[in-house]
Amino acid sequence: MTQKTLLIGQTLAFTGDPFHDGIETARHDARGGILIENGMITATGTADDLRRAHPEAQITDYGNSLILPGFIDAHAHYPQTAMIASWGKRLIDWLNRYTFPEEMKFGDPVYASAIAKTYFDLTLANGTTTTTSFTTIHPASVDAYFAEAKSRGLRAIAGKTCMDRNAPADLTDTAQSAYDDSKALVGKWHGQDRLIYAITPRFSPTSTREQLAALGALWAEHPDCLMQTHLSEQTEEIAWVRDLFPEARDYLDTYEAAGLIGPGALFGHAIHLTDRERARLKESGASLVHCPTSNTFIGSGLFDMDGLMAEGQTIGLATDTGGGSSFSMLRTMASAYEVAQLRGRALHPAELLWLATTGSARALRLDTKIGHLSPGYEADLVVLDLASTPAIAQRAARADTLWEAVFPTIMMGDDRAIRDVRIMGQSMTK
Ligand code: GUN
Ligand code: ZN
Repeated sequence: MTQKTLLIGQTLAFTGDPFHDGIETARHDARGGILIENGMITATGTADDLRRAHPEAQITDYGNSLILPGFIDAHAHYPQTAMIASWGKRLIDWLNRYTFPEEMKFGDPVYASAIAKTYFDLTLANGTTTTTSFTTIHPASVDAYFAEAKSRGLRAIAGKTCMDRNAPADLTDTAQSAYDDSKALVGKWHGQDRLIYAITPRFSPTSTREQLAALGALWAEHPDCLMQTHLSEQTEEIAWVRDLFPEARDYLDTYEAAGLIGPGALFGHAIHLTDRERARLKESGASLVHCPTSNTFIGSGLFDMDGLMAEGQTIGLATDTGGGSSFSMLRTMASAYEVAQLRGRALHPAELLWLATTGSARALRLDTKIGHLSPGYEADLVVLDLASTPAIAQRAARADTLWEAVFPTIMMGDDRAIRDVRIMGQSMTK
Protein backbone atom coordinates (compact mmCIF):
# COMPACT_ATOMS: atom_id res chain seq x y z
CA MET A 1 0.00 0.00 0.00
CA THR A 2 1.31 3.48 -0.79
CA GLN A 3 2.17 5.86 2.01
CA LYS A 4 -0.43 8.59 2.44
CA THR A 5 0.48 11.99 3.88
CA LEU A 6 -2.16 14.40 5.13
CA LEU A 7 -1.17 18.04 5.51
CA ILE A 8 -3.43 20.18 7.65
CA GLY A 9 -3.57 23.97 7.85
CA GLN A 10 -5.37 26.88 6.27
CA THR A 11 -5.77 26.18 2.57
CA LEU A 12 -6.51 28.43 -0.38
CA ALA A 13 -7.56 26.94 -3.72
CA PHE A 14 -8.58 28.79 -6.88
CA THR A 15 -11.47 27.38 -8.86
CA GLY A 16 -11.08 30.13 -11.48
CA ASP A 17 -9.09 33.22 -12.35
CA PRO A 18 -9.75 36.03 -9.85
CA PHE A 19 -9.02 38.70 -12.48
CA HIS A 20 -11.92 37.53 -14.64
CA ASP A 21 -14.06 35.30 -12.45
CA GLY A 22 -13.92 37.41 -9.28
CA ILE A 23 -12.37 37.04 -5.86
CA GLU A 24 -15.08 34.52 -4.88
CA THR A 25 -13.26 32.03 -7.05
CA ALA A 26 -10.76 31.63 -4.19
CA ARG A 27 -11.86 28.85 -1.81
CA HIS A 28 -10.49 29.28 1.69
CA ASP A 29 -10.62 26.56 4.30
CA ALA A 30 -9.55 27.68 7.79
CA ARG A 31 -8.95 24.03 8.67
CA GLY A 32 -8.24 22.36 5.36
CA GLY A 33 -6.37 19.26 4.29
CA ILE A 34 -4.23 18.10 1.38
CA LEU A 35 -3.79 14.37 0.88
CA ILE A 36 -0.59 13.31 -0.89
CA GLU A 37 0.28 9.91 -2.37
CA ASN A 38 3.33 9.15 -4.52
CA GLY A 39 4.18 12.84 -4.80
CA MET A 40 0.74 13.79 -6.13
CA ILE A 41 -2.22 15.53 -4.53
CA THR A 42 -4.97 12.91 -4.41
CA ALA A 43 -7.63 14.66 -2.34
CA THR A 44 -8.46 18.06 -0.84
CA GLY A 45 -11.19 19.06 1.57
CA THR A 46 -11.70 19.81 5.23
CA ALA A 47 -9.15 18.37 7.61
CA ASP A 48 -11.87 16.50 9.50
CA ASP A 49 -13.32 14.83 6.42
CA LEU A 50 -9.93 13.78 5.10
CA ARG A 51 -8.78 12.47 8.50
CA ARG A 52 -11.93 10.38 8.75
CA ALA A 53 -11.64 9.04 5.22
CA HIS A 54 -7.90 8.25 5.50
CA PRO A 55 -7.21 7.20 9.11
CA GLU A 56 -3.96 5.52 8.05
CA ALA A 57 -2.42 8.76 6.65
CA GLN A 58 0.62 10.25 8.32
CA ILE A 59 -0.38 13.73 9.50
CA THR A 60 1.57 17.00 9.52
CA ASP A 61 -0.46 19.76 11.16
CA TYR A 62 0.70 23.27 10.27
CA GLY A 63 -1.87 24.92 12.56
CA ASN A 64 -2.79 28.41 11.31
CA SER A 65 -0.15 28.48 8.58
CA LEU A 66 -1.38 28.80 5.02
CA ILE A 67 -0.78 25.96 2.54
CA LEU A 68 -0.51 27.11 -1.08
CA PRO A 69 0.84 25.73 -4.35
CA GLY A 70 4.58 26.45 -4.42
CA PHE A 71 5.53 29.76 -5.99
CA ILE A 72 6.38 29.69 -9.70
CA ASP A 73 8.96 32.15 -11.00
CA ALA A 74 8.34 32.57 -14.73
CA HIS A 75 11.53 34.52 -15.61
CA ALA A 76 14.93 34.65 -13.90
CA HIS A 77 18.64 34.64 -14.67
CA TYR A 78 20.35 32.20 -12.31
CA PRO A 79 23.83 33.30 -13.54
CA GLN A 80 23.09 36.75 -12.11
CA THR A 81 22.80 35.40 -8.56
CA ALA A 82 26.21 36.72 -7.52
CA MET A 83 25.67 40.23 -8.93
CA ILE A 84 22.09 40.89 -7.80
CA ALA A 85 21.58 44.39 -6.39
CA SER A 86 24.35 46.07 -8.41
CA TRP A 87 24.07 49.83 -8.17
CA GLY A 88 23.19 52.68 -10.40
CA LYS A 89 22.66 51.64 -14.04
CA ARG A 90 19.89 51.32 -16.58
CA LEU A 91 19.43 48.24 -18.73
CA ILE A 92 22.08 48.55 -21.45
CA ASP A 93 24.82 49.92 -19.17
CA TRP A 94 23.82 47.44 -16.49
CA LEU A 95 24.28 44.56 -18.95
CA ASN A 96 27.69 45.82 -20.07
CA ARG A 97 29.01 46.86 -16.67
CA TYR A 98 27.75 44.09 -14.40
CA THR A 99 25.98 41.29 -16.24
CA PHE A 100 28.26 40.32 -19.10
CA PRO A 101 31.46 40.18 -16.96
CA GLU A 102 29.69 37.88 -14.49
CA GLU A 103 28.19 35.68 -17.22
CA MET A 104 31.66 35.15 -18.72
CA LYS A 105 32.57 33.12 -15.64
CA PHE A 106 30.10 30.39 -16.60
CA GLY A 107 32.46 28.83 -19.09
CA ASP A 108 33.85 27.18 -15.97
CA PRO A 109 31.55 24.25 -15.09
CA VAL A 110 32.75 24.27 -11.46
CA TYR A 111 31.71 27.91 -11.03
CA ALA A 112 28.41 27.28 -12.84
CA SER A 113 27.60 24.35 -10.54
CA ALA A 114 28.43 26.34 -7.42
CA ILE A 115 26.13 29.20 -8.46
CA ALA A 116 23.36 26.79 -9.48
CA LYS A 117 23.52 25.24 -6.01
CA THR A 118 23.37 28.65 -4.31
CA TYR A 119 20.52 29.69 -6.60
CA PHE A 120 18.31 26.71 -5.79
CA ASP A 121 19.15 27.00 -2.08
CA LEU A 122 17.82 30.57 -2.23
CA THR A 123 14.74 29.94 -4.37
CA LEU A 124 13.63 26.99 -2.23
CA ALA A 125 14.24 28.96 0.97
CA ASN A 126 11.85 31.54 -0.50
CA GLY A 127 9.13 29.00 -1.27
CA THR A 128 9.68 28.92 -5.02
CA THR A 129 9.23 25.39 -6.33
CA THR A 130 9.55 26.04 -10.08
CA THR A 131 11.99 28.43 -11.74
CA THR A 132 12.28 29.49 -15.38
CA SER A 133 15.79 30.67 -16.06
CA PHE A 134 18.02 32.14 -18.69
CA THR A 135 21.56 30.78 -18.49
CA THR A 136 24.65 32.00 -20.40
CA ILE A 137 25.95 31.18 -23.87
CA HIS A 138 27.87 28.24 -22.36
CA PRO A 139 26.22 24.82 -22.60
CA ALA A 140 27.91 24.04 -19.25
CA SER A 141 25.71 26.68 -17.63
CA VAL A 142 22.60 24.81 -18.80
CA ASP A 143 24.02 21.49 -17.62
CA ALA A 144 24.78 22.96 -14.18
CA TYR A 145 21.24 24.31 -13.76
CA PHE A 146 19.43 21.18 -14.91
CA ALA A 147 21.74 18.81 -13.01
CA GLU A 148 21.11 20.71 -9.78
CA ALA A 149 17.34 20.90 -10.36
CA LYS A 150 17.24 17.19 -11.19
CA SER A 151 19.15 16.22 -8.07
CA ARG A 152 16.50 18.07 -6.01
CA GLY A 153 13.56 16.60 -7.97
CA LEU A 154 12.42 20.02 -9.16
CA ARG A 155 10.21 20.95 -12.06
CA ALA A 156 12.46 23.52 -13.72
CA ILE A 157 12.78 25.30 -17.03
CA ALA A 158 15.84 26.80 -18.74
CA GLY A 159 17.70 27.11 -22.01
CA LYS A 160 21.03 28.22 -23.39
CA THR A 161 21.05 32.01 -23.76
CA CYS A 162 22.01 32.78 -27.36
CA MET A 163 23.82 35.98 -28.47
CA ASP A 164 25.77 36.48 -31.69
CA ARG A 165 26.33 40.26 -31.65
CA ASN A 166 26.58 43.34 -29.43
CA ALA A 167 28.18 41.43 -26.58
CA PRO A 168 31.83 40.74 -25.65
CA ALA A 169 33.57 38.28 -27.96
CA ASP A 170 33.86 35.71 -25.15
CA LEU A 171 30.09 35.82 -24.75
CA THR A 172 28.98 35.32 -28.31
CA ASP A 173 28.09 32.24 -30.29
CA THR A 174 26.91 32.14 -33.94
CA ALA A 175 23.60 31.39 -35.60
CA GLN A 176 24.82 27.88 -36.38
CA SER A 177 26.44 27.10 -33.02
CA ALA A 178 23.43 28.49 -31.14
CA TYR A 179 21.21 26.15 -33.16
CA ASP A 180 23.54 23.16 -32.74
CA ASP A 181 24.20 23.66 -29.03
CA SER A 182 20.54 24.35 -28.24
CA LYS A 183 19.44 21.29 -30.22
CA ALA A 184 21.91 19.07 -28.37
CA LEU A 185 20.71 20.47 -25.03
CA VAL A 186 17.07 19.86 -25.95
CA GLY A 187 17.99 16.25 -26.62
CA LYS A 188 19.93 15.97 -23.39
CA TRP A 189 17.47 17.60 -20.96
CA HIS A 190 13.99 18.28 -22.35
CA GLY A 191 11.42 15.97 -20.79
CA GLN A 192 13.92 14.27 -18.55
CA ASP A 193 12.28 13.84 -15.13
CA ARG A 194 10.52 17.18 -14.53
CA LEU A 195 12.75 19.35 -16.72
CA ILE A 196 11.62 21.49 -19.64
CA TYR A 197 13.78 23.20 -22.25
CA ALA A 198 13.10 26.78 -23.33
CA ILE A 199 14.74 27.97 -26.55
CA THR A 200 16.36 31.24 -25.48
CA PRO A 201 17.45 34.10 -27.72
CA ARG A 202 18.46 36.73 -25.12
CA PHE A 203 16.78 39.63 -26.97
CA SER A 204 16.80 41.07 -30.47
CA PRO A 205 19.69 43.53 -29.87
CA THR A 206 22.08 40.63 -29.22
CA SER A 207 20.88 38.29 -31.98
CA THR A 208 21.22 38.68 -35.74
CA ARG A 209 18.24 37.92 -37.96
CA GLU A 210 20.06 34.71 -38.89
CA GLN A 211 20.32 33.61 -35.28
CA LEU A 212 16.68 34.44 -34.53
CA ALA A 213 15.64 32.50 -37.65
CA ALA A 214 17.80 29.50 -36.67
CA LEU A 215 16.18 29.42 -33.23
CA GLY A 216 12.74 29.81 -34.81
CA ALA A 217 13.51 26.79 -36.97
CA LEU A 218 14.63 24.82 -33.91
CA TRP A 219 11.40 25.70 -32.08
CA ALA A 220 9.39 24.53 -35.10
CA GLU A 221 11.19 21.19 -34.81
CA HIS A 222 10.45 21.03 -31.05
CA PRO A 223 7.11 22.80 -30.55
CA ASP A 224 6.64 21.28 -27.10
CA CYS A 225 9.63 23.29 -25.87
CA LEU A 226 9.01 26.77 -24.54
CA MET A 227 10.64 29.88 -26.06
CA GLN A 228 11.73 32.71 -23.77
CA THR A 229 13.14 36.15 -24.49
CA HIS A 230 12.79 39.84 -23.56
CA LEU A 231 10.42 42.37 -25.10
CA SER A 232 10.03 46.16 -24.76
CA GLU A 233 11.59 46.58 -21.33
CA GLN A 234 13.20 50.04 -21.69
CA THR A 235 12.71 52.92 -24.10
CA GLU A 236 16.43 53.04 -25.06
CA GLU A 237 16.30 49.32 -25.85
CA ILE A 238 13.27 49.83 -28.13
CA ALA A 239 15.05 52.67 -29.97
CA TRP A 240 18.08 50.38 -30.42
CA VAL A 241 15.88 47.64 -31.89
CA ARG A 242 14.41 50.19 -34.30
CA ASP A 243 17.94 51.05 -35.50
CA LEU A 244 19.01 47.43 -35.79
CA PHE A 245 15.84 46.23 -37.56
CA PRO A 246 14.63 49.14 -39.71
CA GLU A 247 12.39 46.79 -41.70
CA ALA A 248 10.44 45.62 -38.62
CA ARG A 249 7.01 47.04 -37.84
CA ASP A 250 7.88 47.07 -34.14
CA TYR A 251 9.96 45.14 -31.57
CA LEU A 252 7.67 42.10 -31.52
CA ASP A 253 7.93 41.88 -35.31
CA THR A 254 11.65 41.07 -35.00
CA TYR A 255 10.63 37.84 -33.23
CA GLU A 256 7.57 37.26 -35.39
CA ALA A 257 9.66 37.40 -38.59
CA ALA A 258 11.74 34.53 -37.19
CA GLY A 259 8.81 32.32 -36.11
CA LEU A 260 9.42 33.17 -32.46
CA ILE A 261 5.82 33.81 -31.45
CA GLY A 262 2.93 31.55 -30.53
CA PRO A 263 1.69 29.44 -27.64
CA GLY A 264 4.63 28.68 -25.36
CA ALA A 265 6.44 31.94 -26.17
CA LEU A 266 7.35 33.82 -22.98
CA PHE A 267 8.02 37.54 -23.35
CA GLY A 268 9.69 39.03 -20.28
CA HIS A 269 8.76 42.61 -19.25
CA ALA A 270 6.46 43.70 -22.14
CA ILE A 271 6.03 47.18 -20.71
CA HIS A 272 6.09 49.65 -23.62
CA LEU A 273 3.86 47.86 -26.12
CA THR A 274 2.15 49.25 -29.21
CA ASP A 275 -1.47 48.44 -29.99
CA ARG A 276 -0.35 46.12 -32.77
CA GLU A 277 1.99 44.25 -30.44
CA ARG A 278 -0.75 43.83 -27.85
CA ALA A 279 -3.19 42.51 -30.42
CA ARG A 280 -0.63 40.13 -31.92
CA LEU A 281 0.52 38.82 -28.52
CA LYS A 282 -3.06 38.01 -27.60
CA GLU A 283 -3.98 36.50 -30.94
CA SER A 284 -0.86 34.31 -31.02
CA GLY A 285 -1.44 32.79 -27.57
CA ALA A 286 1.94 33.99 -26.26
CA SER A 287 2.56 34.76 -22.58
CA LEU A 288 3.75 37.99 -20.98
CA VAL A 289 5.87 37.86 -17.85
CA HIS A 290 5.70 40.70 -15.35
CA CYS A 291 8.95 41.36 -13.47
CA PRO A 292 8.07 44.22 -11.11
CA THR A 293 11.14 44.40 -8.83
CA SER A 294 13.32 44.52 -11.93
CA ASN A 295 11.18 47.17 -13.60
CA THR A 296 11.52 49.50 -10.62
CA PHE A 297 15.14 48.60 -9.84
CA ILE A 298 16.47 49.19 -13.38
CA GLY A 299 13.98 52.00 -13.91
CA SER A 300 12.14 50.38 -16.84
CA GLY A 301 8.52 51.43 -16.35
CA LEU A 302 5.11 50.41 -15.07
CA PHE A 303 3.57 47.22 -16.52
CA ASP A 304 -0.09 47.64 -17.49
CA MET A 305 -1.47 44.69 -15.52
CA ASP A 306 -5.03 45.91 -15.50
CA GLY A 307 -5.27 46.77 -19.19
CA LEU A 308 -3.44 43.65 -20.35
CA MET A 309 -5.55 41.37 -18.16
CA ALA A 310 -8.73 43.09 -19.33
CA GLU A 311 -7.85 42.37 -22.95
CA GLY A 312 -7.28 38.71 -22.13
CA GLN A 313 -3.51 38.38 -22.22
CA THR A 314 -1.84 35.40 -20.52
CA ILE A 315 0.41 36.80 -17.77
CA GLY A 316 2.89 35.25 -15.36
CA LEU A 317 4.87 36.76 -12.51
CA ALA A 318 8.62 36.66 -12.03
CA THR A 319 11.63 37.91 -10.08
CA ASP A 320 13.99 38.47 -13.05
CA THR A 321 16.94 38.01 -10.68
CA GLY A 322 19.43 39.71 -10.81
CA GLY A 323 17.89 42.66 -12.71
CA GLY A 324 15.17 42.01 -10.16
CA SER A 325 16.28 42.83 -6.65
CA SER A 326 14.93 39.80 -4.79
CA PHE A 327 14.72 36.00 -4.91
CA SER A 328 11.39 36.17 -3.08
CA MET A 329 8.05 35.84 -4.84
CA LEU A 330 6.48 37.47 -1.75
CA ARG A 331 8.59 40.56 -2.38
CA THR A 332 7.70 40.26 -6.07
CA MET A 333 3.97 40.25 -5.28
CA ALA A 334 4.48 43.32 -3.07
CA SER A 335 6.24 45.06 -5.94
CA ALA A 336 3.47 44.07 -8.38
CA TYR A 337 1.02 45.62 -5.94
CA GLU A 338 3.04 48.84 -5.79
CA VAL A 339 3.47 49.09 -9.56
CA ALA A 340 -0.27 48.57 -10.09
CA GLN A 341 -1.02 51.20 -7.42
CA LEU A 342 1.10 53.68 -9.36
CA ARG A 343 -1.18 52.98 -12.33
CA GLY A 344 -4.29 53.48 -10.20
CA ARG A 345 -5.30 49.88 -9.51
CA ALA A 346 -5.03 48.00 -6.20
CA LEU A 347 -4.44 44.32 -6.91
CA HIS A 348 -6.31 42.09 -4.47
CA PRO A 349 -4.27 39.58 -2.40
CA ALA A 350 -6.18 36.82 -4.23
CA GLU A 351 -4.98 38.22 -7.56
CA LEU A 352 -1.38 38.47 -6.33
CA LEU A 353 -1.32 34.91 -4.95
CA TRP A 354 -2.99 33.61 -8.10
CA LEU A 355 -0.39 35.32 -10.31
CA ALA A 356 2.49 33.80 -8.34
CA THR A 357 1.05 30.27 -8.58
CA THR A 358 -1.70 29.42 -11.08
CA GLY A 359 -1.06 32.46 -13.28
CA SER A 360 2.60 31.65 -13.76
CA ALA A 361 1.78 27.95 -14.28
CA ARG A 362 -0.65 28.91 -17.02
CA ALA A 363 1.85 31.25 -18.64
CA LEU A 364 4.32 28.34 -18.72
CA ARG A 365 1.71 25.94 -20.17
CA LEU A 366 2.07 23.87 -16.99
CA ASP A 367 -1.31 24.45 -15.43
CA THR A 368 -2.36 20.84 -15.75
CA LYS A 369 0.64 19.83 -13.61
CA ILE A 370 1.50 22.53 -11.07
CA GLY A 371 0.06 25.67 -9.52
CA HIS A 372 -3.21 24.25 -8.16
CA LEU A 373 -4.23 22.67 -4.86
CA SER A 374 -6.33 20.02 -6.58
CA PRO A 375 -6.29 16.25 -7.02
CA GLY A 376 -4.10 15.19 -9.94
CA TYR A 377 -1.53 17.96 -9.46
CA GLU A 378 2.08 17.51 -8.43
CA ALA A 379 2.46 18.15 -4.69
CA ASP A 380 4.83 21.13 -4.90
CA LEU A 381 3.70 23.28 -1.99
CA VAL A 382 4.67 26.22 0.16
CA VAL A 383 3.46 26.70 3.73
CA LEU A 384 3.36 30.33 4.90
CA ASP A 385 3.70 31.41 8.50
CA LEU A 386 1.38 34.44 8.58
CA ALA A 387 3.09 35.83 11.72
CA SER A 388 6.76 35.44 10.83
CA THR A 389 8.08 38.73 12.24
CA PRO A 390 6.88 40.96 15.09
CA ALA A 391 5.73 43.62 12.60
CA ILE A 392 3.71 41.14 10.57
CA ALA A 393 2.39 39.29 13.63
CA GLN A 394 0.95 42.38 15.31
CA ARG A 395 -0.83 43.37 12.09
CA ALA A 396 -2.12 39.88 11.30
CA ALA A 397 -3.44 39.55 14.87
CA ARG A 398 -5.89 42.35 14.08
CA ALA A 399 -7.15 40.77 10.84
CA ASP A 400 -10.82 39.90 10.44
CA THR A 401 -10.51 37.99 7.16
CA LEU A 402 -7.99 35.70 5.47
CA TRP A 403 -7.16 38.52 3.05
CA GLU A 404 -6.32 40.89 5.87
CA ALA A 405 -4.31 38.14 7.52
CA VAL A 406 -2.25 37.27 4.43
CA PHE A 407 -1.67 40.75 2.98
CA PRO A 408 0.91 41.81 5.64
CA THR A 409 2.94 38.71 4.73
CA ILE A 410 2.70 39.57 1.02
CA MET A 411 3.85 43.14 1.66
CA MET A 412 6.40 42.59 4.44
CA GLY A 413 7.26 38.90 4.31
CA ASP A 414 10.52 37.25 3.26
CA ASP A 415 12.16 33.86 3.67
CA ARG A 416 11.28 33.89 7.38
CA ALA A 417 7.64 33.46 6.35
CA ILE A 418 8.40 30.15 4.61
CA ARG A 419 7.51 27.53 7.20
CA ASP A 420 7.87 24.61 4.82
CA VAL A 421 8.40 23.80 1.15
CA ARG A 422 7.41 20.46 -0.34
CA ILE A 423 8.61 19.05 -3.63
CA MET A 424 6.47 16.16 -4.84
CA GLY A 425 5.22 15.91 -1.28
CA GLN A 426 8.67 15.76 0.35
CA SER A 427 9.57 18.46 2.84
CA MET A 428 12.71 20.37 1.86
CA THR A 429 13.18 21.95 5.29
CA LYS A 430 13.76 18.74 7.25
N1 GUN B 1 17.40 42.16 -21.54
C1 GUN B 1 18.36 41.41 -22.11
N2 GUN B 1 19.07 40.74 -21.18
C2 GUN B 1 18.55 41.07 -19.99
C3 GUN B 1 18.85 40.69 -18.65
O1 GUN B 1 19.76 39.92 -18.37
N3 GUN B 1 18.08 41.26 -17.69
C4 GUN B 1 17.07 42.12 -17.97
N4 GUN B 1 16.35 42.62 -16.97
N5 GUN B 1 16.77 42.48 -19.21
C5 GUN B 1 17.49 41.97 -20.22
ZN1 ZN C 1 15.39 38.84 -17.91
